[in-house]
Formats: sequence, C-alpha cells, structure tokens
Amino acid sequence: MRIDVFTIFPAIFDSPLREGLLGKAVRKGIVEVRVHDIREYAPGKHRQVDDAPFGGGAGMVMKPEPLFSAVTGALGYGMDELDRLRREVSVIMLTPRGARLTQSKVAALASLPHLALVCGRYEGVDERVLEHLCSETLSIGDYVLSGGEFAALVVIEAVSRLLPGVLGNEASLREESFSGGTLEYPQYTRPADFRGWKVPEVLLSGDHAAVERWRREAAREWTRKVRPDLLGEEVEAGGEGGAEGGEE
Ligand SMILES: C[S@@+](CC[C@H](N)C(=O)[O-])C[C@H]1O[C@@H](n2cnc3c(N)ncnc32)[C@H](O)[C@@H]1O
Repeated sequence: MRIDVFTIFPAIFDSPLREGLLGKAVRKGIVEVRVHDIREYAPGKHRQVDDAPFGGGAGMVMKPEPLFSAVTGALGYGMDELDRLRREVSVIMLTPRGARLTQSKVAALASLPHLALVCGRYEGVDERVLEHLCSETLSIGDYVLSGGEFAALVVIEAVSRLLPGVLGNEASLREESFSGGTLEYPQYTRPADFRGWKVPEVLLSGDHAAVERWRREAAREWTRKVRPDLLGEEVEAGGEGGAEGGEE
C-alpha cells in the first residue's frame, strides 16, 4: 500500500515511521509512506500557506493553492484531472469536522491501494480543498488537535497493522477490541500474584473452554461499564464511560 502525507511539519513523521511495527512494515516495503512538505509548493519568497479568513474571525486559514499544487504535483496529476485523481487515490482530509474513524473504516482503508492524507493546521483549511481536492474527511475523535499530523499517524498506524505480513500473529486481530462488537477482555501475565493482587483463578486452570467463557463475559462486562454504546445500550447522563474511569 502507498500512503502520501501532506503537511507543513514533515519532521513530525520521522520517528514514528522508523519505530516499532510501523517501522518494520515500512522497511519491509509493505507500506510505502511519502511525506510531502506543503510549503515547497507555496509560491513566493515567504512560501505563505495561510491567510486571514473571509468574514473575519480568529486565526488563519490554510490557502487552497499550495494544497492543490502539493497533492496534484506530488502525485503526478494535472489541475484538470481532479476527478481522475479522486477515483484513483483516496484523498483524505483530517479534520474534527470529518466522519469518525472506526475500526471498520480502518479495515476498509486497509483494502485500498493508495491513500493521500492531508494535514490541516491553524484554524483549518479553505473549504474548497474539502469540496474539490479531497474524496473524504476523517476525524480521529471528538476533540481538537493543533494539527492533522498526529491524526494522520493514527490512520497510518491503524491501517498498516492490518496489512498482511505486518503482525507476527494475525490471530490477535480476530480477538482484539472492536472485532467482535465489544472491547477486548482483560489480559494478565506472570507473576500470578503481584503484591497480593491475584490473577483470576480460571486463567491458571488450563481449561480452555472455561477460559474462553470467562473472557467473553469479562469483555462484555467491561464494555458495558466503559462503552455501553457499543452494546447498543444507552450512555448514562454525565458522559461516556464508567463512573470509575475505565480508560487506561
Ligand atoms: C486547530 S485544528 C482546526 C479546528 C477547526 N477550527 C474546527 O473547529 O473544526 C487544526 C487542524 O488539526 C487537525 N485536527 C484537529 N483535530 C482533529 C481531529 N479530531 N481529527 C482529525 N484531525 C484533526 C485538522 O487537520 C485541522 O485542520
């Protein structure tokens, strides 16, 4: 799979693309990530990529010209070939205004040959980029980051671990959170007793059917506590998640 990233901060991608499973996937050529500096496509001595918003308001907005030039230029399309570009490449704008990224969306993206991820900065991006350059929008969650770079890395990381040959044990994909409609069951390793906090007895029993049952129930119980919405249940007033703070 090929992923092109468009950003004004290309150095942010250096270490994440070198380390861990993602680094391995890049070195093995399973995923080819090319990071492009939008500023190189901005005209003028100052290579200006932003300007004040029409209609007034706080902050600056990313100008359309450098983004159109960067994406078409780097991917080898003319400005009159935007339809073909969007047919052949999934050009994704990362934005908190975008459709929410989910594991099933990640799986759909992993089946595509070529993604282009556009990272915004400042107060956002001229809407014509979303309308005429991008084929879709994605948000990584209901919060606002200062830029799309970390959102793009989330997409790259989540998508590449689904590509064949990236994970050592692909069976783990079948069991992890979201794959069966719940979050994953709790995991334990040695020691069986740590400061008096004991691992559930059943996990030491060697009874695979009982372990399986316990995991299924524990996964459901945990999901009900922190993400009842995944089970189609109502989220209690006062916010998502368990009262005891289920998030790690
Ligand atoms: C400060 S944000 C702009 C937020 C914008 N003013 C709004 O209220 O929707 C700057 C950039 O960060 C990126 N960004 C911020 N939050 C994000 C999120 N939850 N998902 C994806 N990208 C995000 C986008 O690329 C965005 O253009």
